[in-house]
Amino acid sequence: MPHATIYATDISSAALVVAQRNAKRHSVSDRIHFLECNLLDGFIDGRAAPAGRSVLGAQHATPLLGKDAPHESPVTSHQSRSFHLIASNPPYIGRREATTLMREVRDHEPEIALYGGEEGYEFYAGLIAQSAAHLKPSGILVLELGHNSLPAVHPLLDAPTWTNVAVTNDLAGIPRVLAAERL
Ligand SMILES: C[S@@+](CC[C@H](N)C(=O)[O-])C[C@H]1O[C@@H](n2cnc3c(N)ncnc32)[C@H](O)[C@@H]1O
Repeated sequence: MPHATIYATDISSAALVVAQRNAKRHSVSDRIHFLECNLLDGFIDGRAAPAGRSVLGAQHATPLLGKDAPHESPVTSHQSRSFHLIASNPPYIGRREATTLMREVRDHEPEIALYGGEEGYEFYAGLIAQSAAHLKPSGILVLELGHNSLPAVHPLLDAPTWTNVAVTNDLAGIPRVLAAERL
């Protein structure tokens, strides 16, 4: 999709540096804006907020809402919902599962990339609420899931906000991708 405008976001500047390196390797750096922010806090009206911190250096500063602020977007009107697609692979492992993780994951991946909370699925409610505020009508949300996230997350994609909810299993038969259309 050469004409798509793409924003890649992460709360970790180190993760964004890796993403930028990957983009360069694939010759798509000029098509992606990299933005350091908490969930979708760095956006207003489908654009990086003037206060959003861009690791490209084109824009500066801090997320719109603090890390500890409720995960609600100030953007709710129909006209200001601007994205066609939001895709996320959030942290989704439960801290209670930490001892069961493979050592090469537990001891070498940054905690912020692994744990979604005590249970693991705590990120999804805020992310889904913010996505609802930012997706155009008929826009699509695609979420990667933890191995036990589906029962907690599926009910969050309910009417009248969401429709056409679909679950895709991974090769081990575990529900891994949840997608839904914004009404
Ligand atoms: C499972 S990793 C996915 C990394 C990469 N996006 C990918 O798909 O390969 C989860 C990522 O979420 C980021 N993250 C954790 N908390 C976040 C938050 N509150 N807002 C935005 N990103 C967050 C972590 O820094 C980490 O890079």
